Amino acid sequence: RKKVTIQHLHSLRSRGVPITMLTAYDFPTARACDAHGVDITLIGDSLAQVCLGYDSTTRLTLDEMLHHCRAVARGSKIPLLVADMPFGTYHASPEDAVRAAVRMVREGGVEGVKLEGGLELVETVRRLTAVGIPVMAHVGLMPQRHVALSGYKVQGRRAACALGVLRSALALEAAGAFAVVLEAVPRPLGAYVTRALRAPTIGIGAGPETSGQVLVWDDVMGIWCGDKAKFVRRFADVREEVGRGVRGYVQAVRERSFPEAAETYGMPESEWEAFLA
Ligand code: KIV
Ligand code: NA
Repeated sequence: RKKVTIQHLHSLRSRGVPITMLTAYDFPTARACDAHGVDITLIGDSLAQVCLGYDSTTRLTLDEMLHHCRAVARGSKIPLLVADMPFGTYHASPEDAVRAAVRMVREGGVEGVKLEGGLELVETVRRLTAVGIPVMAHVGLMPQRHVALSGYKVQGRRAACALGVLRSALALEAAGAFAVVLEAVPRPLGAYVTRALRAPTIGIGAGPETSGQVLVWDDVMGIWCGDKAKFVRRFADVREEVGRGVRGYVQAVRERSFPEAAETYGMPESEWEAFLA
């Protein structure tokens, strides 16, 4: 496989080949994405919940994000590498956003950044793109705003809200965004926005007509034990396997069936006698 570029993503979109995007938070998950055909690896700020145990993505700091970006970057060669800008690192001003994004590229080793928001981010997206940092927009359900939105709910079921999603996507594309994530929007809106844009859309709970799909690693693997959103499909049952492993280990240690002879170092008899003497 060849390195995935933005040009390649546009070509997938125009040929109608779905784009695959999956989150990764550390070296081994990055290796897996790299080895098994993922087009875009996202260091999502879902990191806050699924890896770090915070109750909201708003808790994640830039330094925490950078720590995980570095680990993922070390394991990632082929997929385009994008990371979420943590809550608060791009809101105060476009200058702030550029400074934070530069750290993510230079220290974190990512190739692009993702930002949640609408028209209020147009100037920020313009500035980031102008300095050569590719931006992925994220509209619809924006988890960093879950309190303002009164929960993690489908967005754009009402005409006015759907129009807001469409206008945001169009404006962010015009400002330079190379792709747009559509989270938790009705299927017809996902399809409509996809047709309205030239840039690829990546859906999560946005139906099958988007240019690509993204899911959270822990949801795909069946690791996450919290609520399962309607749009999540579990493709593996890693939680069950992990449970099997831990229970087996604990039991084997307790009953002294681990370690056995083959898992143990011996010592020449004469050396042992010398030691005892
Ligand atoms: O944080 C995340 O994992 C995300 C994707 C699921 C889109 O933003
Ligand atoms: Na995110």
